[in-house]
Amino acid sequence: MTASLIPHHIAIVMDGNGRWANKRFLPRIAGHKQGVDALKRCAKACDARGVRVLTVFAFSSENWQRPTEEVSGLMDLFALALAREVPQLKADGVQLRFIGERQGLSVRVRNGIKQAEADTAANSRLVLNVCFNYGGRWDIVQAAAKLSEQGLPATEQHLSRAMALAHVPDPDLVIRTGGELRISNFLLWQSAYAEFQFTNTLWPDFDEAALDAAIASYAARERRFGKTSDQVQQLSVAVSPV
Ligand code: FPP
Repeated sequence: MTASLIPHHIAIVMDGNGRWANKRFLPRIAGHKQGVDALKRCAKACDARGVRVLTVFAFSSENWQRPTEEVSGLMDLFALALAREVPQLKADGVQLRFIGERQGLSVRVRNGIKQAEADTAANSRLVLNVCFNYGGRWDIVQAAAKLSEQGLPATEQHLSRAMALAHVPDPDLVIRTGGELRISNFLLWQSAYAEFQFTNTLWPDFDEAALDAAIASYAARERRFGKTSDQVQQLSVAVSPV
């Protein structure tokens, strides 16, 4: 059985903004600004293709270690982008969710997040999860802490329900742009059975054609979820309409 043609949930490590800017002798923040435009374009393209959930890695728990100037530039850009882009996202039916540790973020950013979530909560066309001050290990630890608080045993089902992305199914396709072949603490729990696509394209250059190439590659894969190829093919014959 090949994967269904369009992934329900795509997750993306948007890497390569800095190199995009360096190549043009621009400050790194110019690459991040371009990255916001690429994200808007990608969300639109996902919606047009029938993808229902898009999850992006915008700022990792480890990104605080970057030069102060870049961190504060990213925080400003984030707050500004929220103020600027939320009305259009709301009109486009996008539900915004922010995934990550809110403690440690400025009041301005926290308020922007709260407002954006409230403004778009009733939307259901496309869920856009923005992972911000997020790490996959952080998520597993906070989920385990919740279970312990509630006195629940650490079963797979309980943990899944306590994870920060419990409101959406696991990603079908995880894309990383920018040429690196690693997962960098992104969706460690949720990507257990995701298909992966790595591309050398830098995030600001990631366009509709690049998205289509990733989806086409995904659609040609056989997702086995631990079963054998024969079992999967028998199952697909059994469920196909005659
Ligand atoms: C990685 O590229 C990218 C980031 C750390 C930031 C990603 C942020 C955006 C695309 C902006 C998102 C903003 C909003 C409002 C959601 P890099 O800097 O590591 O690039 P490099 O590997 O080329 O140095």
